[in-house]
Amino acid sequence: MRLVVTGAAGFIGTNFVRHALARSADAVSRLVAVDLLTYAGNYANLADLEADPRFRFVRADIADRDAMATLVDEEAVDTLVNCAAETHVDRSIADHSPFVTTNVEGTLVLLEAARQRTGFRRFLQVSTDEVYGSISAGRATEDWPTRPSSPYAASKAAADAFVQAYATTYGLPAIITRCSNNYGPYQFPEKLIPLFVTNGLDGEALPLYGDGLNVRDWIHVEDHCAALWHVLGLPAAGGEVFNVSAEHEVPNRDVTDVILRLLDRPASLVRYVDDRPGHDRRYALDATRLRRLGWAPRRRFEEGLADTVAWYREQRAWWEAIKSGAYRDYYERMYGGRLRDSSAAPRS
Ligand code: NAD
Ligand code: DAU
Repeated sequence: MRLVVTGAAGFIGTNFVRHALARSADAVSRLVAVDLLTYAGNYANLADLEADPRFRFVRADIADRDAMATLVDEEAVDTLVNCAAETHVDRSIADHSPFVTTNVEGTLVLLEAARQRTGFRRFLQVSTDEVYGSISAGRATEDWPTRPSSPYAASKAAADAFVQAYATTYGLPAIITRCSNNYGPYQFPEKLIPLFVTNGLDGEALPLYGDGLNVRDWIHVEDHCAALWHVLGLPAAGGEVFNVSAEHEVPNRDVTDVILRLLDRPASLVRYVDDRPGHDRRYALDATRLRRLGWAPRRRFEEGLADTVAWYREQRAWWEAIKSGAYRDYYERMYGGRLRDSSAAPRS
């Protein structure tokens, strides 16, 4: 496999690159890690991999047509895993434009670069359960309609539609995975779990949205990466969708309680703040299709969360570097007013 992984310096990209390079040289002969290094990308995540002769890092924008076409050609790429994206729902509500440029136009640029390459074998679009919208009852299977709630989810649903259009119209060997909420090492501390763990470690407030009873379906990032690797080996290539989930639903309040217990911090750190607009109440995926094809999650949530808390405890230098500078302005913009108006108990 001559593989390009985009968004390689982000949370899932970093974990997936490490997963792929842990395979033998017979499985992966070349791995080109592409990342623009936006606020969410961190080259330090990958620096030690430069010692592997199969590995190359390229700082580039997936929406740059010439750069992507040249790279795919020069490196004789046959497989592309697209993890590059703007990924934070709250940021998409504040400004949708980078979400359209990267998630929609960037995906189209990659699809076009792959289509032009002779001998191209597999395009894997890493997508999300958020495209289905809030699931009031049952679990979403792959044929549920897409009903995105946030600008982020809308941009991911649009990208998925283009991937399917390229498979149908041009016969591009493409597939889509839709995964539930990931947790684990290297996650940027704007997302619930790393934000609450790092705030908790510093004895700072944990801003819980609304009544704290929104439900997310949690999976360890290693299980997600194993699923991505697994689908690369499946014969499917006609725009098929595979849900990826450990089918483990937890309300945000319970996630918060476990984090506080693992950190040995008091419940008084929790502050209820104004809700996210359009906040999806519940995500729940049905991953039967992929399970029947031989993949299964291995990590239990409680044990995986304990390992994750331990990782952030040990990697203070990693997240302290992130939580300085521009992050402070972001935090004040996103949470300053809401925390000043917050309460110790949900308001309704
Ligand atoms: P992340 O925000 O941690 O990483 C995204 C990476 O993409 C960053 O390194 C960033 O620098 C890079 N990037 C952004 N714009 C780019 C551009 N124009 N060109 C090149 N690189 C660019 O996100 P993540 O959590 O690792 O998510 C990766 C993918 O997985 C996304 O497509 C996301 O929608 C999907 N996903 C994430 C989750 C989750 O829980 N984190 C769940 C399901 C699906
Ligand atoms: O479901 C997959 C998606 O999971 C991915 O596609 C997204 O890229 C990823 O960001 C994540 O989206 P969520 O919006 O579910 O994740 P987030 O960590 O932002 O929020 C998780 C839950 O916690 C959600 O119900 C909102 C709540 N929350 C979040 C933050 C950041 C809070 O209560 N307080 C917070 O400060």
